[in-house]
Amino acid sequence: MERSLVLIKPDAIQRCLAGDIISRLEKKGLKIVAMKMVQMDHVLAQRHYAIHSDKPFFGELVDFITSCPIIAIVFQGRNAVSLIRQAMGETNSAKANPGTIRGDLGIDLSHNLIHGSDSQDNASHEISLFFSSEEIHDYNRDVDQWIS
Ligand code: RTP
Ligand code: MG
Repeated sequence: MERSLVLIKPDAIQRCLAGDIISRLEKKGLKIVAMKMVQMDHVLAQRHYAIHSDKPFFGELVDFITSCPIIAIVFQGRNAVSLIRQAMGETNSAKANPGTIRGDLGIDLSHNLIHGSDSQDNASHEISLFFSSEEIHDYNRDVDQWIS
């Protein structure tokens, strides 16, 4: 079953939106298989956002994501990567569609509340930055028969 890494970003923590965001993804049928609060340091932030290291906004992005603790979650489900990207909405919250997390709750390009892996390969790599294999749980839910 597919897995994706979600980060509930500092703006979501500061604005008390973590529960709402997690709840939207849970209601879509995605299963939480790992979760923890993490104060990211610059080393972890640079690894997580390595693909953007040559972009002009990289320093600002690292400062933002390390500005307060975040919540890291591994969600599991059929098509988890694309399902989460759809639920997030586009990167710039000001342009994201209503009904998406960023469209309904986000502010702008930098303050967009949530990270979600953008491919299965990146998901595997990002999950390994935040979680050991022992921290990822394999369990059954009664509702899985309705949504798997
Ligand atoms: P994320 O990685 O955080 O889930 O966001 P994303 O896939 O939707 O967007 P991505 O292109 O990966 O960009 C990562 C984060 O960098 C910030 N950004 N700033 N100033 C700019 O032009 C700019 N472009 C991107 C955003 O905060 C975005 O979430
Ligand atoms: Mg991205």
